[in-house]
Amino acid sequence: MPFTIAIDGPAASGKGTIARALARHFGFAHLDTGLLYRAVGAKGGDPIAAARALAPEDLARPDLRSAEAGQAASRVAAIPEVRAALVEFQRRFARSQPGAVLDGRDIGTVICPEAELKLYVTASDEIRARRRALELGADEARILAELRERDARDAARAVAPMRPADDALLLDTSEMTIDEAVARAIACAREAGA
Ligand code: DC
Repeated sequence: MPFTIAIDGPAASGKGTIARALARHFGFAHLDTGLLYRAVGAKGGDPIAAARALAPEDLARPDLRSAEAGQAASRVAAIPEVRAALVEFQRRFARSQPGAVLDGRDIGTVICPEAELKLYVTASDEIRARRRALELGADEARILAELRERDARDAARAVAPMRPADDALLLDTSEMTIDEAVARAIACAREAGA
């Protein structure tokens, strides 16, 4: 039986770093599901058609990490037909052997409600903005405004809004180093049987 770890949380909370580290530690496959929405947003044209036709090479575009790509992703992610077109790919990925880590906004609630471990990773708005500004070499105030706008849209949408699953463990990384956050996540995964 494959072991599934679902990691959700707002932008720049540290969930991607934690997901990658967990996958490396346990030898699991990792899927950054935000990349799927970023790729759909970046394709332009009709987002529903773009989601239905999404191909692996679309995920390799170098411009998908930008703040603009994040905003475009958040907008197309509110379209129910876009989300529906991406569900099966994610669920199939979750069944990778010997296990998989998926990070996003609705993994614990919609994509993998049966996941053996669900983490909801958060950090204060200001700390997330500082981390992302350092990473992108961008202005912190602008990034803060952008993160808040994106989180508000992701949490307010009608279909699969960003929220912790009822049985998710909350991990607030505001006061943690990356190493501390990763160590905590690994301990949670061991406890859950990984
Ligand atoms: O994790 P990220 O910042 O790369 O995600 C970009 C956007 O994609 C995010 O603002 C909302 C959307 N998204 C989503 O709706 N559901 C997911 N599982 C992952 C991302």
